[in-house]
Amino acid sequence: MHPTVSLPDPYPATATINAAGHLEVGGCDLVALASEFGTPAYIVDEADLRARARAFRAGLADRHPDSDVLFASKAFPCSAVYRVLAEEGLACDVASGGELALALGAGFDPARIYLHGNAKSLPELAEAMRAGVGQIVIDSLDDLDRTERVAGELGRRQAVLLRVTPDVRGETHDAISTGQADSKFGFGLAEAPGAIDRAQRSPHLHVLGLHCHIGSQLLDLAPFERAVAALAELGRFPVYNLGGGLGVAYLADQRPPAIAAYLDVLIAAAHARLGPEARLLIEPGRALVANTTLTLYEIQTVKRNVSTWVAVDGGMSDNLRPMLYGSRYEVALAGRMHSAGSGEPCVLAGKHCESGDVIARDIRLADPRPGEIVVTPATGAYGHAMANNYNGVPRPPVIFVAGGKARVVVRRETYADLAARDV
Ligand code: LLP
Repeated sequence: MHPTVSLPDPYPATATINAAGHLEVGGCDLVALASEFGTPAYIVDEADLRARARAFRAGLADRHPDSDVLFASKAFPCSAVYRVLAEEGLACDVASGGELALALGAGFDPARIYLHGNAKSLPELAEAMRAGVGQIVIDSLDDLDRTERVAGELGRRQAVLLRVTPDVRGETHDAISTGQADSKFGFGLAEAPGAIDRAQRSPHLHVLGLHCHIGSQLLDLAPFERAVAALAELGRFPVYNLGGGLGVAYLADQRPPAIAAYLDVLIAAAHARLGPEARLLIEPGRALVANTTLTLYEIQTVKRNVSTWVAVDGGMSDNLRPMLYGSRYEVALAGRMHSAGSGEPCVLAGKHCESGDVIARDIRLADPRPGEIVVTPATGAYGHAMANNYNGVPRPPVIFVAGGKARVVVRRETYADLAARDV
């Protein structure tokens, strides 16, 4: 019998190592889950998901009662996740007609759905207004014109926010940085007053306030304060949506700000700069879902040349993040957790037909063998969301675990699914 070992932050809250030395989440042995449901598979710790939702919601309400937490649903757009977060009292941010349909289907109150996008189509705008979404976030003058036109055609006065790019750079990968002046998102600070004026004069738009989102996976809180200060230069409004962006731990030695520390800084800045009266919205994605989930893979082959290549049955089809952003992950053998961090240097390779399809470099695994189960924690955000069918690989199931029970909430794709749209 091994002593109980606490697992580092990238792992879900209920993760433990059981008496057999296996990783357990939500009371379920992950080696057993792999043989019951197959691999690859996304495993979601439902209790952890609910706890994070409560930490955001209660944390924000305690600091500023006139507020709401919106789930940035692009991070994990599957019906069961929408449903759990709706049950936990969150509102929802959608960035397309598809996300809108999922959010409505899962039971979100349309009045608490917020539509985003730098290139919304006319049908998407009409779908959102017909559904009765609470606010539409306007991103450009053309978007303003089109929102006004659709609202006019539908005989409505649509509540809107204007997205502002505050010329603030957070430290993150270029591909997920959005606050810089040269961003494809939002109105620049010079352009914003004219756009606000133009929207305020429209009989079909009701300008409630401003939105900003400066980037994602931010581990330093200072840029959030600078963004609030920039918004304050544009005058006072009844509503501010301060976006998402709080970073998470992907690696055991990363120490992201806690949800409470983030809210302390953000709300103090809002009180100081935007006044105590405004309604405040935030829209976390990653910090709600990333660490609730891990991916199970089965090792197929181990090849030793210059490196030791441990190849699994998934890769860039279920996790694009290493290829898109050079993101790094912890890797462990689910059936021999006490070996974690020891053994020979390895590369965890995917099964896809590209040399770049590598899930993790610079990892150690102790004598990895074909048939063993490998886990990568922290795959809940933008994992399932960006999954694809490269090489005709069916996308993995999403499995919720809680109280010793597992339930499939998204089934594994089939070969028939791959041909389902072919005509
Ligand atoms: N609000 C807006 C307007 C956003 O564009 C985003 C993310 C969020 C909120 C949520 O940000 P979060 O709290 O998750 O950082 N695929 C990339 C991330 C793209 C983020 C897109 N926008 C990745 O895997 O890192």
